Amino acid sequence: MATVAKTERIKAFSATHDWESADYEPTLPVSEMSNPLTRNIDRAPASSIVKMLQACDAQMFQEKSGAAYERLLSDQVAKSLMEVAKRVQLILKNPQDSLIVLSGCGTSGRLAFFITSGFNRELRRLNHSAVCSYIIAGGDRALFSSQEAPEDDPISGALSLKKVSEGKKRVLFIGISCGLSAPFVAGQLDFCLQHPDVYTPVLVGFNPAHQARNEPIPGCTFTFHSVVTKMRELAKMQKAFLINPVLGPEAISGSSRMKGGSATKILLEVVFSAAHAANFSRTPITYNGILQHLRSYGKVLDITYSQTEGIAAMMEAAGRSLQCGRGLCYLSWGCLGLLGLIDASECKPTFGADYKDIQGFVGGGCKELGNKEGDLNLMGAESGIAHIDFLRNVLPCLTDKDTVLLLYSHSDDVDEVAKLARRVREKTSNMHAVYHQTDGDTAAQQGEINKLCSLTLNFIWPQATPASMGLQHMWELSTKLVLNAVSTGAHILKGKVYQNYMIDLQVTNSKLYCRAARLLQRLSGHPKSLCEEALLKAIYQVDKLTEDIMTCNLTTHTHTARKVKKVVPLALVCLLTGYSIKEAQSHLEQKPIVREAVEACLREQTLFSGSL
Ligand code: F6P
Repeated sequence: MATVAKTERIKAFSATHDWESADYEPTLPVSEMSNPLTRNIDRAPASSIVKMLQACDAQMFQEKSGAAYERLLSDQVAKSLMEVAKRVQLILKNPQDSLIVLSGCGTSGRLAFFITSGFNRELRRLNHSAVCSYIIAGGDRALFSSQEAPEDDPISGALSLKKVSEGKKRVLFIGISCGLSAPFVAGQLDFCLQHPDVYTPVLVGFNPAHQARNEPIPGCTFTFHSVVTKMRELAKMQKAFLINPVLGPEAISGSSRMKGGSATKILLEVVFSAAHAANFSRTPITYNGILQHLRSYGKVLDITYSQTEGIAAMMEAAGRSLQCGRGLCYLSWGCLGLLGLIDASECKPTFGADYKDIQGFVGGGCKELGNKEGDLNLMGAESGIAHIDFLRNVLPCLTDKDTVLLLYSHSDDVDEVAKLARRVREKTSNMHAVYHQTDGDTAAQQGEINKLCSLTLNFIWPQATPASMGLQHMWELSTKLVLNAVSTGAHILKGKVYQNYMIDLQVTNSKLYCRAARLLQRLSGHPKSLCEEALLKAIYQVDKLTEDIMTCNLTTHTHTARKVKKVVPLALVCLLTGYSIKEAQSHLEQKPIVREAVEACLREQTLFSGSL
């Protein structure tokens, strides 16, 4: 049984312990480990939270150390990127009957879309045909809202790949799964392996190959691990490619939207920029060029985190809004638009957030973003993502308790930004801005917008940027880091994180189910079987599991879990106190801050076991 003393011992052990050593959380892949740097992030003030996030992000660029892990700047990673860039260049040179497909689930799928649209836009600007396509598990509605269940479907993964590449003779498939875990992507990679005459598979993820998920996938003869094993064999002949540097554990355990998402963006931009430069400006794809480009992203971290105080102030403002049941709104323009939507959509599965807690809006909405399925008829109130939807649905009810963040750069229509800022300011003084400009370029309206906002993070980027790297990519990564920090920090301040675990995660797919069961084990000290039992009782809202429930499959469990709030806290309270589901629910209602409720139970548990 867990006691505080035991928890303290674990803490002390972990704080001094390096996540790279073989005996650190040995049963977990790196992407699911808890980061020793953030063990106390749940009790830290905003300024310390930002510093911890900075330290975690910096781990991405640490050079290879004693451990056997490949890192972002490793030799092997740069070499694989070079080879993949050459394949992209071949397709650019000879686009007929060829296609590049990027695919993933959740944030990985959203980034697949983000990178695909940016690359195609650039090609069209040069009168070249678009050669890239994207797939996201759950279709386009998953671009802007959380859809976790389709991640478990390998058949739909394979079918969607087949459909998008119909009639093509040469397909470069890039599957993204940060944890090397999504069955949807495994199904697609397996499909590629079965049709080697057409498909060359590339896998992007952030665990070493041997840590790829090895659980059976219902209805399939392969696992993610077995697919990776086959790909490793083919990689020796350059018939498949694995790009899987290790980044260190996420700041919030398992939250791959953070470092995983950033590194996905970095790696794919490096590949596409190198191929683009080779094709359009005859710049050869070289090892040094790739490495230099990778390193230049490290500077984005430095520039972004040089504004720690400002980021912390925004985090506090957003935290206050969430604490009193109000919201955080991202209003963005141009290339930064999608980043706000991506950040907002991931808060639901990670923190059990309501869609209204954090919402993103981008200028013209879907029309501007150019997604495949066009204007999305999203269900109910989650319908609009354009500024006009904000004006119609959100602005009328906005108060000082809500936080609004404007995201724009000097290459956007700053007149429009000022116009909207004025309207927002009439309703709330709690408005902030993230503004990117290059040295020497200032928009005339900037002074006015600054006055309207209580705080502006003004990032001034040097004109002479590293040759291979677009300014826009810098602004995007920088904005992503700020938004991840603000939304993560705000949820921490709201009490949605315990130590560095997401204690109110949604249990809406098999990976999240396993993560939840593991968390219950860790926090309660009870065996796996008991924890799973408690999880199921919380999902089905019963005190006794029926035969029917016990025989349901995992898909039914995760489907049912969609409708229940606070599943994991509920299961934990039951495990620690022996309360019935109803009693646990009323306990959680009395203590709506989940972290405090969990801590109170852990304390009672200690007192109880101490008095025995
Ligand atoms: O299932 C939820 C989730 O963890 C998302 O938060 C994440 O973006 C997505 O899965 C994809 O994970 P991965 O890139 O590891 O396949």
